[in-house]
Amino acid sequence: MPDAFENMDRMYRLQRYFYDTTRKYYLLGRDQLLNEMNVRSGERVLEVGCGTARNLIILARRHPDAHFYGLDASAAMLETAQAKTDNAGLKSITLKTALADDFSFNGTFGRAVPFDKIFFSYSISMIPPWRESIDNALANLKPGGTLYLVDFYDQKDLPAAFRKLLKWWLRKFHVQFWDGLLPYFSSLDKDGLVRLDLKPLFRRYSFIASLKKPI
Ligand SMILES: C[S@@+](CC[C@H](N)C(=O)[O-])C[C@H]1O[C@@H](n2cnc3c(N)ncnc32)[C@H](O)[C@@H]1O
Repeated sequence: MPDAFENMDRMYRLQRYFYDTTRKYYLLGRDQLLNEMNVRSGERVLEVGCGTARNLIILARRHPDAHFYGLDASAAMLETAQAKTDNAGLKSITLKTALADDFSFNGTFGRAVPFDKIFFSYSISMIPPWRESIDNALANLKPGGTLYLVDFYDQKDLPAAFRKLLKWWLRKFHVQFWDGLLPYFSSLDKDGLVRLDLKPLFRRYSFIASLKKPI
């Protein structure tokens, strides 16, 4: 999907300036995921669709002995991300423009070995080739490594009117909960390719999933 670079740049060219302030009210569960990731000294952690690097900056401050990588389809978002990491004086974050379904630890980041942890924070819901992106993330994760996702769920335990309004609003930003996503995770677990843990949050407003690869 060669247009993904252009589409994301168009969407975020202006939004990136007020992105962090507005999103903190509705991208719920991000901090819980960062707390639960349990990053260890020396580990290499990648965020796919890192946006303004809000999550990577929190993690890099918290874990000065680990190494952080971020990729995003939008070069404009990454300009903001780079300025923020420079301002924070953080040297442990490397950022690259790339697509979720088409990056590799060696080709994109020049690394010799796959990542210890990879996470998607409110990005999988914007990626039509979500299945290819999940497969690609798992291929770039070392044995025993974990893939994490936090994103919008189906809101089935919230009032129907709220659910409808949220869906309508999210569609305006090309965001949607992919019906096949969680069944796909279950099928990977059933086939023994990962061990799945799924947590619905805030009455199924959002979810955190972790997929651990066997050693
Ligand atoms: C809603 S933002 C989330 C940003 C950040 N992860 C956070 O939690 O604040 C989604 C990000 O995914 C990026 N994105 C969308 N499609 C992508 C793709 N196919 N490959 C890589 N990044 C993509 C967008 O450019 C955007 O920066």
